[in-house]
Amino acid sequence: MPVPTDAFVDHLRSLLDDRAILTGTDALDRTADPRGVLSREPVVVVRPADVVGVAATVAACAEAGVAIVPQGGNTGLSYGTHLPADRPAILLSVSRLNRIESVDPDRWTITAQAGVSIQAIQEAASSVGRKFAPDWGARGTATVGGGISTDAGGTNVVRYGNMRDNVMGIEAVLADGRVWDGRRSLRKDSSGYDLKHLFIGGEGTLGVVTSAVLKLVPATPYETSTLAAITGLDDLMPLLELGEQHAPGAISGFELIPDMAMDRLTEVLGIPRFIDAGTEYCVLVRLASSEPVDDMIAGFLKAGVEAGHIVDAVVAGTADQEATLWVMRDEITPMTLWTEHQHLGLKLDTAVPIDQIAEFVRQISARSAEIAPGALCYGFGHVGDGNIHMMILPTSDEAIEPWLAAKPAMEAAIDETVFGLHGTLSAEHGVGLLLRDRIGPQKQELEWEMMRCIKRALDPENLFNPGKLIPDPEV
Ligand code: LAC
Ligand code: ZN
Repeated sequence: MPVPTDAFVDHLRSLLDDRAILTGTDALDRTADPRGVLSREPVVVVRPADVVGVAATVAACAEAGVAIVPQGGNTGLSYGTHLPADRPAILLSVSRLNRIESVDPDRWTITAQAGVSIQAIQEAASSVGRKFAPDWGARGTATVGGGISTDAGGTNVVRYGNMRDNVMGIEAVLADGRVWDGRRSLRKDSSGYDLKHLFIGGEGTLGVVTSAVLKLVPATPYETSTLAAITGLDDLMPLLELGEQHAPGAISGFELIPDMAMDRLTEVLGIPRFIDAGTEYCVLVRLASSEPVDDMIAGFLKAGVEAGHIVDAVVAGTADQEATLWVMRDEITPMTLWTEHQHLGLKLDTAVPIDQIAEFVRQISARSAEIAPGALCYGFGHVGDGNIHMMILPTSDEAIEPWLAAKPAMEAAIDETVFGLHGTLSAEHGVGLLLRDRIGPQKQELEWEMMRCIKRALDPENLFNPGKLIPDPEV
């Protein structure tokens, strides 16, 4: 992983301030691999303090042919900020672009620099009686820029959409160092191509997002959640529909929770078991509204029981109880529950059309039992978005060797299943390096051709995040 020459790093130093360049161990700390898979090699991290500094850095890199890998909070799960192996590159961190530029309740927006955390935006919105809806486990570290670049999702998507639906305008530095200020706050604008959408989910391959206008929604002071044991996966769609009937517009989270993971959560984190109905799955449903939700949740549960979908349920009685239910949800990942073996496993970010969720989980579970019988296979996550994170991993030392032998066949089976159901391998985590060589068959060749055309038009020298997202960039 070649680093740029010392002379080039000195040149960057002369353009920026003292704190802007990190090398050695300080820099390495910014490349932590949350999955513990990739090796850590020397890196130069550049952290400009403002957009002018970003533009100067990009222009200098363009002139010297040094690649730029933009980085937010480094909580990504698809190796989207891994440095290229075959050319000098810098990691361009937005960590010091950390100012909220304005909070505008009457306009229902917040304008913030790319390095501000998602949680800081949520808190700023709530301080003026509004809400910033996107929310996921890494909220405290994940940034506006990273969330935009991966088009991140989370547990509020069923009601409010991914980041894409919550961004009104962006500012970005382009490949020649020019700054595009597209921070509009228009609810309507049919004046041609909506260029911001190329950068949202663009994984830093077209430019560096430096600031954004984010959309706020009405606050939801009344909120509660229920954990309900369900008869089986075929209950999911009828339950989602019952939820919309009994709590119209109030469902803000609808998550699948496997029973076996709840045992493990008790074992590892001491989180109490809230429900023990002996069924394979629960759903965790959150209602959030400007009006009281108690009657809505009671109506939903009653209807669910009467229709035979719900076997047993608990409702959070206090804000603390509700928070614990959602901590349980956020921690269901193998990264918490099987820390020693998790890096060897597969962590899927697949989505299928929502009516195919049950079929998808069944097919993946069956293929896993057949191809990798010694591995643990379970799924959790976003029912409302068709985005169930299936996890397949060894959980003992003895299981490692057979699992590693089976893993390539399992990956092929996953791709076949997902594409067969007209799904996506990447719903909210991005493609990065992790999925780049598998994602090809998911789109028509014509779509990749259009994407390559856009990439070449905006970044002709392939300066930004080379080797990510697009399969066969040279084709
Ligand atoms: C979640 C992350 C893995 O939903 O997307 O927990
Ligand atoms: Zn998720």
